[in-house]
Amino acid sequence: CRRVLAVLVSTGLVAAVLSGCGAGGGDKRQIIRIGHNQATDHPTNIALMAFEEYIEEKLGDKYNVEVYPSELLGSQTDMVQLTQTGAIDFCVASNSILETFSQNYTLFNLPYLFASAEAYHKSMDDPEIVEPIFESTKQAGFEAVTWIDAGTRNFYTVSTQIEAPADLKGLKIRVQQSPTNVEMMSLLGGSATPMGFGDVYTALQSKVIDGAENNEMALTSNGHGDVCKYYSYDMHQMIPDILIGNCAFLDELPEEEREIFEEGFLLVNSVEREEWVKAVEAAKDKAQNEQGVTFLYPDTKPFQEICEPMHADMLAKYPDLSPIYDKIQEYNAEYPSEAE
Ligand code: GCU
Repeated sequence: CRRVLAVLVSTGLVAAVLSGCGAGGGDKRQIIRIGHNQATDHPTNIALMAFEEYIEEKLGDKYNVEVYPSELLGSQTDMVQLTQTGAIDFCVASNSILETFSQNYTLFNLPYLFASAEAYHKSMDDPEIVEPIFESTKQAGFEAVTWIDAGTRNFYTVSTQIEAPADLKGLKIRVQQSPTNVEMMSLLGGSATPMGFGDVYTALQSKVIDGAENNEMALTSNGHGDVCKYYSYDMHQMIPDILIGNCAFLDELPEEEREIFEEGFLLVNSVEREEWVKAVEAAKDKAQNEQGVTFLYPDTKPFQEICEPMHADMLAKYPDLSPIYDKIQEYNAEYPSEAE
């Protein structure tokens, strides 16, 4: 996908896209650009299309919403920077990479932070938990407007069955570009290879890496299951994606319009969550039956125990996050792991 961006840049298309030359001559509507890195059939894109429809239905005389999928506007890191400066208005970024923009995001990247999907969802829906984190990048020029479910991250490899942490030894595993993910991988014994999402398929195919870690959609929507034949449910992280918006754009919206945008953000969250459940089921089915991927269900405890010290380390480093961490533990107690 870098290549797509490079082509766009070399042909001056990105400049045209970003300067609004794409809009028809007499069109006075303000263009709202939203970038993300998923394919068009992915729940994230479906949810953003629903947002486009909603905003244009309510405020169509004023705004023209344009959604750019598939890293067309660059990698997530590139897109966050474009959102920061206001070159684009919104983008979807993994919580992982936001940790390099605000340390508060480190919290949701901790391995085994949430005991269950229910505890994860309840926590992310609780303003007391997310607001201090979502607002922490305001000075950097952007803020989070909603979260997007991205399921559970697990290891998958070209040819090694991961049944226990020892099986990761000596394997090069792609991780997201985040210090927490690199540390987690080193603790678990694999060799962390950070890179952008768009580069993973080629790296797997050319054996630069032995595997990666992600939700089930990566196998199908990104084709990783064509190369990787073992997917192992060690359940190490539930990392949300975050829809972020440029602060100047958001702050300048008149109050009535801001309300409509807020409704639109809620719609993104709810449509995506509904689509997510169906998409994961379909992905598992396709991976198993069409791509020949074997799903493994190892004991998650040994993985969890190795990662455990990362919690105390993070709290020692960022004590301000303690009350939020404790609140998440309350949800964990209320919605414990099904395995327990
Ligand atoms: C998931 C997540 C993306 C992220 C990707 C990755 O697909 O939804 O936001 O970029 O993982 O591993 O980089």
